[in-house]
Amino acid sequence: MKDLKGLVLCGGRGTRLRPLTYTSAKQLIPVANKPILHFVLDQVAEAGIRDVGIIISPETGAAVQGAIGTGERWGLRATYITQDAPSGLAHAVLTARSFLEDSPFLMFLGDNLIQGGVQALRQRFAGSEADALILLKEVADPRQFGVAVLNGDGSVHALVEKPQTPPSNLALVGVYLFRPAIHAAIARIRPSARGELEITDAIQELLRAGGRVETVRLEGWWLDAGKKDDLLEANRAVLDEFTRREILGDVGDECTVTGRVAIGRLTTVERSTIRGPAVIGERCRIQGAFIGPYSAIGDGTVVTQSSVQHSVVLDGCRLEGVDRLEDSVLGRAVTITRAADGPKALRVFVSDDSKISL
Ligand code: TTP
Repeated sequence: MKDLKGLVLCGGRGTRLRPLTYTSAKQLIPVANKPILHFVLDQVAEAGIRDVGIIISPETGAAVQGAIGTGERWGLRATYITQDAPSGLAHAVLTARSFLEDSPFLMFLGDNLIQGGVQALRQRFAGSEADALILLKEVADPRQFGVAVLNGDGSVHALVEKPQTPPSNLALVGVYLFRPAIHAAIARIRPSARGELEITDAIQELLRAGGRVETVRLEGWWLDAGKKDDLLEANRAVLDEFTRREILGDVGDECTVTGRVAIGRLTTVERSTIRGPAVIGERCRIQGAFIGPYSAIGDGTVVTQSSVQHSVVLDGCRLEGVDRLEDSVLGRAVTITRAADGPKALRVFVSDDSKISL
């Protein structure tokens, strides 16, 4: 068998994560202070893949390219492929056709995280004759996903994209393995009602033409970090699983730091309580503060006389006198301060599509 290639999808519009996606590629937004895409590339590399095509958009492609470079850091050889418009996951495969040639490939959505990596999946695929191997996960609300209906023997009967009345609760996780038969199937499908070439339609077409589609149930967690609450959930899961206690900064005497807490270099912590799992970046100043579980604080952020928990705060923010910041996502260099005359009036200066809940 030819070597398995990787195809990581970093195009898309990211509308559900505005305003963050006005200034950043969705796949570069950090969870636990590390860009989601880095976790994806870690897993691609772990699975023994070397050649990886990265689908980028004209809007955010340069940022993705700047962050990943040649891929050498992961032992990967990255090829960037620009998709002119986000016309669907199958369209992304079509765009990557000359990179993929006739190799089998692993397609990984650049904003998805799965527990345990893809190595076992790769092995299962190598030992099978399937034209496609898809990963399924039971979800509470399947209406926002591609959904699979299985036959009694576990093979795929049908796939439906974002069904109003879901025929099952088995969602397609954003990781797929394909043999080259998928290309002919993609060539035969038409755009869906929402105008996209859907990968679910392509797999359905593969089935119709007699192709073999196998499934694997994912036991661990799967997070599609495409919306604010999902991003917070991804941050929680990743902090829970990967945080180790590592204090590189300077923690003063009147502080309590409990549990798995990582504090970066040149960060100072004074008169504060920090409860893990939590991560605080480099060059931060934490003073008279409470940083609670499931918080990720980016580099160069200042938190004084404030309490933060279950939140993602990116680099260079300033929080002063904020009583309880919870379940929140703050972009870069956001300032929240308490006015000298107390919290009587709300004074805001926020960008388009910001969301504030009081
Ligand atoms: P989605 O989250 O389905 O789409 P999106 O990024 O456009 O987001 P939104 O719905 O909020 O506007 O995309 C899943 C992943 O696949 C994501 O990492 C972006 C990528 N993608 C492409 O690379 N090309 C595409 O044509 C599409 C639709 C998505």
